[in-house]
Order: sequence, then structure tokens, then C-alpha cells
Amino acid sequence: MILRLCQHSFHIYDLLLFSGALTILVYILLPHRFALRYDYIDKEHIEEALLSATVSNISSQQAIDCSYKEVLADSTFVYDAAHRAAILRGQEIRLGGEYQPDECRARFSTAIIVPYRDRQEQLVAFLNYMHNYLRLQQIHYRIFVVEQSDRKPFNRAMLFNIGAKVAESYGYPCLILHDVDLMPLNSGQIYACTVQPRHMSSALDSWRFHLPYRTLFGGVVAISTSQFTMINGMSNLYHGWGGEDDDLYERLKVVGIEICRFDPAYSEYTMLKHKHAIPNENRMALLRSASLRMHTDGLNSLVYKEVERRMHSLFTHILVET
Ligand SMILES: *[C@@H]1O[C@H](CO)[C@@H](O)[C@H](O)[C@H]1NC(C)=O
Repeated sequence: MILRLCQHSFHIYDLLLFSGALTILVYILLPHRFALRYDYIDKEHIEEALLSATVSNISSQQAIDCSYKEVLADSTFVYDAAHRAAILRGQEIRLGGEYQPDECRARFSTAIIVPYRDRQEQLVAFLNYMHNYLRLQQIHYRIFVVEQSDRKPFNRAMLFNIGAKVAESYGYPCLILHDVDLMPLNSGQIYACTVQPRHMSSALDSWRFHLPYRTLFGGVVAISTSQFTMINGMSNLYHGWGGEDDDLYERLKVVGIEICRFDPAYSEYTMLKHKHAIPNENRMALLRSASLRMHTDGLNSLVYKEVERRMHSLFTHILVET
């Protein structure tokens, strides 16, 4: 009897069932192994998707507007570890980490906002690489590093709100919300805003260059200052790792703004290695109330103390207490 049962258990259907279950398990545990199809703006349509706007005091000494044809024409892999070590031709960068080309008038002014705490080595690598990378794009930009000085759990979204307020006070029409551990690999991922908010880091090396889910809107995103203001910025309530990006996506959904992406060949990023942050246990509950909170939790409820604002050679440093 026992023997027969055993024989029975090796039935072909059991085997199928087992391999089916295994496939599902692998799929659930390793979603990043599988390519997900998503809509994106292809190479030919990038230029027309851009939102051309600059600060009002941009130098008008140059008679001609910069042309972006060449910058946008290809997605050449430009990442070079050596670029992380030193600034090439650093004297062109103004105090505070601002740059504009001097051979033509830039058509885009971008504030790059980087929330930060305790990652000096990464910050140095980021600043060196980004300045080398960005100056190839003929845009006007400035890097703002917003540092949380207190020891409370890291509040990434709140630091973005603070950075956005500061950038707006300098007249920037376009914000790029940028993690310090991500660096772009392709030349054509222009650091300018698109008409629709754009998820820029959609092909991340640590996810095998695949997008894990379509509504992902984190890592590096570009959004116009007016759209960011329209959705009341981001939530101030996400302490610790995770959830605040999905909350931002919910806000855009509520007001009917769709996000966009560039061709994956333009959207490759590398992630610098670091220890994992402490997750926010409360994030799922918060996320469920995202649309209810959006008009009362954000730029209009932002309370913080600016401890210091200092102009460094490669960035504007805003030290805050949250
Ligand atoms: C515009 O004015 C701000 C504030 O005075 C200054 O920091 C910035 O360098 C100026 N920008 C340009 C492009 O001249």
C-alpha cells in the first residue's frame, strides 16, 4: 500500500504542478529578472517632448540659442569611473555648483536636488561625475544638496520639498529629484524637464536594466516646478526608507498628470553600493491615504529649520533640521 502511494506521488501531473509552483515562486521572489514592457518616448520624439524654460536672469550675452540635436541624437555610454575622481575644466563651474554654457544661450534651467546624510564618499563621486556629465549637455543647472542634520529617521521626501522651495526662490522652472547613489550612463538623458513628469532612472543596473513596475517613480525624476507645486510637493510624513515615491505617483494620478520615460537605451543608471536603510514600517498604511492627505501634507505644511546655507565650489549646501 505504502509503496503504491509512493509510486503514485511521482505522477506526471504532480511534477507539472511542482514545476509550475516553482516558476511562480521564482517569479514572485525575483521580479527584476523579467523585462516589463512599458511606453516610452523614442529617440526621434525626445526634443519635442522637452519643456523649454530658464531662470529669468540667464545671461543674454549670447546671441544664439543652444542646439540640442547633437546631445539628443545618441545614447552613447559615457560612464567613466575616472570621471568620478576629478572635475575636468572645473573653473567653469560657479560657486554653488552652477553652470551654463558660454558659447550659446541655454534653453533649459534645471535645479538638481539631492537629499543627503552621512554618505560623503558617494557625494564626492556623485558631484565629480555629474559635473563632467552635465556640462556635455549645454544646459544651465545648479546642484542643491539638502542635508538632514538631526538624527531622526531620514526623511527623503521632506528634503525634496525643502530643495524645491529653495530652487523656486532662485527661479528654477525645472526640478530633478535625484538620489545621491545613482549616476546616468548614457549621454542623451538630458537633464531638462519634459512636458509630462519623467521617470529618468528606468533602466537601473542593479535591476538588470529592467523596470520592476510601471508606476515606479523614484530614483531620479524630473518634474516642472509648477507641477510639483500643483500637487503640493511630496508628503512630509515618510520617515525612513520607502513609500514616498509611490505617494508622489498617487498625487500625480489624482490630478490626472501622466508620467513619461525615455527610450531605455537613454535611461541606464548605475547604483553605487551602500548599506540598506531602515524601512518605514508605516509606509503601506500611509500610502493608502495618499490622495486624502495630498492637500494638507506637503509644501503647505512644511516646517523645518535652515541651519546653514553654504556655497561650495561644486554645490549649494542647505543644512536643515527636520
Ligand atoms: C541669477 O541670480 C541668482 C541669485 O542672485 C544667482 O545666484 C545666479 O548665479 C544667477 N544666474 C545666472 C544664470 O546668472
